[in-house]
Amino acid sequence: MYIPLPQNPNKPSALSEKGKIIFVQQGCVTCHTPPLFTNNKLTPADGFAIPDEHYSKYDIFDISVGTDPGYTMNTRRGTGYYKTPSLLGLWYRGPFMHDATLANLEDLFDPARLKDDYVPTGFKPHDVKTKAVPGHEFGMDLSKAEKEALIAYLLTL
Ligand code: HEC
Repeated sequence: MYIPLPQNPNKPSALSEKGKIIFVQQGCVTCHTPPLFTNNKLTPADGFAIPDEHYSKYDIFDISVGTDPGYTMNTRRGTGYYKTPSLLGLWYRGPFMHDATLANLEDLFDPARLKDDYVPTGFKPHDVKTKAVPGHEFGMDLSKAEKEALIAYLLTL
C-alpha cells in the first residue's frame, strides 16, 4: 500500500514572492541553498576548535551561527558541529532549532529572544523559566512586513 505524501497547503503568492527576494538578499541561500535548502555543511559550535584533519574529512563551513553550543560540546554524542538543516517542509514541522527551543518561525526573527528574560516558546529544561536563545541572528533586523513576507515564503518550501 502506498501512503500519499501530505501536500503543502501554502501555495506561492504575491507575499511569498516578496519573501523569496528577501531570502536571497539576506544571504540565507549561502547556507540554505536551493534546491535542498541546505548546503549540507557542518558549522562549528561556539568554542569548538576545528582539528586540522577535519578539513579534509568533512564538508565544513567555517562560521559559527552562534547558537547554544551546549548539546554538541557537552554531551556524549556531541561532535562540536551543527549541520545546516534543510528548510524543506518547515510548514509541517517544529519546534525549531537543534534544541527545539522555538515553537514558531516568528520567534526565530524576534530580537527579544537574545535577552536573558526571554521565555522560550518551545522546549526548555524543567527548572528554567526564562533564558536567552542566542545566535542565528539572520533576518532579525528586517521590518515587520518583510518578516511576514519571508515567513510566508519559508512556509511554501
Ligand atoms: C551561515 C549559515 C546560515 C545562514 C546565512 C542562515 N542560516 Fe538558517 N540555519 C543555519 C544553521 C547552522 C541552523 C541550525 C542552528 C541550530 O539548530 O542551532 C539554521 C537554522 C535555521 C532554521 C531552523 C530550521 C529547523 O528545522 O529548526 C530556519 C527556519 C532558518 N535557519 C532560516 C534561515 C533564514 C530565513 C535565513 C536568512 C534570513 C538563514 N536561515 C540564514 C545556518 C544558516
